[in-house]
Amino acid sequence: MRFRTLRSLDVAGRRVFVRVDFNVPLTPDGAIADDTRIVSSLPTLRYLIEKGARLIVASHLGRPKGKPDPGLSLAPVRERLERCLRKPVRFSEAIVGPEAKRLAMDLSDGDVLLLENLRFDPREEANDPGFSRELALLAEAYVNDAFGAAHRAHASTVGITGTIADRAAGLLLERELEALGKLLEGPERPYAAILGGAKISGKIDVLRNLLPRVDRLMIGGGMMFTFVRAKGLETGRSLVEEDKVPLAKEILARPDAEEKLLLPIDCIVAADASGRDPGHAVAVDRIPKDLAGVDIGPESVREILEALSTARTVFWNGPMGVFETPAFAEGTLRVAKGVAQATARGAFTVVGGGDSIAAIHKAGVESQVSHCSTGGGASLEFLEGRVLPGVAALESVEKAAR
Ligand code: 3PG
Repeated sequence: MRFRTLRSLDVAGRRVFVRVDFNVPLTPDGAIADDTRIVSSLPTLRYLIEKGARLIVASHLGRPKGKPDPGLSLAPVRERLERCLRKPVRFSEAIVGPEAKRLAMDLSDGDVLLLENLRFDPREEANDPGFSRELALLAEAYVNDAFGAAHRAHASTVGITGTIADRAAGLLLERELEALGKLLEGPERPYAAILGGAKISGKIDVLRNLLPRVDRLMIGGGMMFTFVRAKGLETGRSLVEEDKVPLAKEILARPDAEEKLLLPIDCIVAADASGRDPGHAVAVDRIPKDLAGVDIGPESVREILEALSTARTVFWNGPMGVFETPAFAEGTLRVAKGVAQATARGAFTVVGGGDSIAAIHKAGVESQVSHCSTGGGASLEFLEGRVLPGVAALESVEKAAR
């Protein structure tokens, strides 16, 4: 890796801006539904505290569209962070400006200040140079530990590095790149990828770019129905992205698709996704007009597990169905267990994305996966072979120093 690591950064007594990804899922009443991302940042934060740094911690939460939104405040995250670190965490409602600066200057060695949601200011996502400089004014050194946001070229992930020369990758970012890097550089074969989730949009490039890199690409989740439609079959009331049907056709027509692409052969259909109708399995060419597909069926699960049973490398992103409804969680949970079994057989397994990680927890197999990635979109872009702007911005310091 061509960037500086945390251990080589001089941090004692210095103000360090730490970009983390605290974009945690929230319950409808605003509580933290899963704190994996907070817990994953603790090694970096604890390291800096122990070394006597003065921490200015910053993150985005959700997509508030550049305006303050009380429902997306980082205040609840501050409380959770205090509990995790077992020490007080100060909070600045001002992200930049005199008040934020005053609070940053007030810090003593080992103190922690959390800034309010960076995306409350439209200049964060615009990677605005003025905002980047204002963020940089708060600190003397910069650490990026936000792997989940490394695919975003924003002020706190890229712009700020134009001003703060003393910068390094955090321990989480380093661990993520090391684990995911193994999938990019000479993965052991066969390499099987499983992609799920509701929509194809956002995964188009992934589908295109991952296919040449893997030996098997298995599709599940809501996006399977756009492929079913592309084959000219009835999809009933299933979720179909009409405008993506041509793209699904294009992918199906690729020369390597026949050999590598594995689409579900059956699915669970029900009146709706509520679970009141527990649903039943049908072949994908027998989906009734008045029902919706809500999970992959038992035959498809069997095929996926069979492919996993010989795989030496596995990557999984996205649930196989509406897994938050217990009646339709079967496909996702069995895939989670299949990934765990692959690990037990010696395969290198990586799971990325909030929903898949939640499924891994629900199936109780988190200790049986080689690497659980905190990045959803970031891990997908990385595995496509794309350069992540947040990582490139850290690397450029090394190039400049040479
Ligand atoms: C994520 O959840 O994937 C990251 O936090 C990035 O969030 P974003 O997709 O809203 O930029």
